[in-house]
Amino acid sequence: MVIAIDGPAGSGKSTIARRVAASLGFYFLNTGSFYRAYTLSALERGIDPLDRDKVLANAESIRITVENGNICIDGIDSEGKLHTPSVDAWASQVSSDPRLRELVNAAVRKLAAGMNIVTEGRDTTTVIFPDADFKFYFDASPEIRAERRVKDQPGADYESVLKAIKERDRMDMEKEAGALKRSPDALYIDTSLLTIKEVCEKVIKTVGK
Ligand code: DC
Repeated sequence: MVIAIDGPAGSGKSTIARRVAASLGFYFLNTGSFYRAYTLSALERGIDPLDRDKVLANAESIRITVENGNICIDGIDSEGKLHTPSVDAWASQVSSDPRLRELVNAAVRKLAAGMNIVTEGRDTTTVIFPDADFKFYFDASPEIRAERRVKDQPGADYESVLKAIKERDRMDMEKEAGALKRSPDALYIDTSLLTIKEVCEKVIKTVGK
C-alpha cells in the first residue's frame, strides 16, 4: 500500500509521514532526500549546481541507497549532511531538471515496489505515485511554517526564514518539471492550527487503520 503526501516546505509532511509510518508499521520514504543527496554530492565534488549536465552526470555516477531509513551515497551514510544551508539553498534548482527527476522517480518506485510505504515530497501524489492508495495535500500559511522552522532551529531569524520559505515556494511552484501542484483527488489538510498528533489521527482515520 502507498500513502502519499504532498505539500510545501514546512507543512508538516516529513514529521507526520514519519509518525504515521511508525504507527502503521510502514516504511517511511522521504523523496526530497534523494534531491538533497544529489545536491550534496555535486557540492562536495565542486560541481556548480547550476551546471545541469555535470550535476546529472554526477548523479548517474553515484549510487543512492536507503539503509535503516538513512540515505547513503555510494554506501556512506550521508543523512546528517542533507540539511545544511547550502543544500537547502540549491536542492530546488537541482530538482528542476526533468532528467534528474526521472532518475529520482525511478529509484523511488523501485524502492517502494511491493512494500507498504508512507512517502512524501512535492510530486508524490501527482507524478511518482498517481495511483497511490491514499493521497494527502498538507498546507499551512508561510508565517506558521516560518514559526515552525524557527522553533526547530534556535537562533534562526524569523524574518529571514519567512523570506526563504516564500522564495522556496515560488521556486517549487514555478519549476518546469515536478512543480508543486495540488492533486484534485488528494485530501486537503490545512495543518496551520492543528497539532502533529491531530494531523496524524486524521491521516490514520482516513486510511482506516
Ligand atoms: O522536502 P525537502 O525540503 O527535503 O525537498 C528538498 C528539495 O527537493 C526541495 O527543493 C523540493 C524538492 N523536491 C521535489 O522537487 N520533489 C519531491 N518529490 C521532493 C522534493
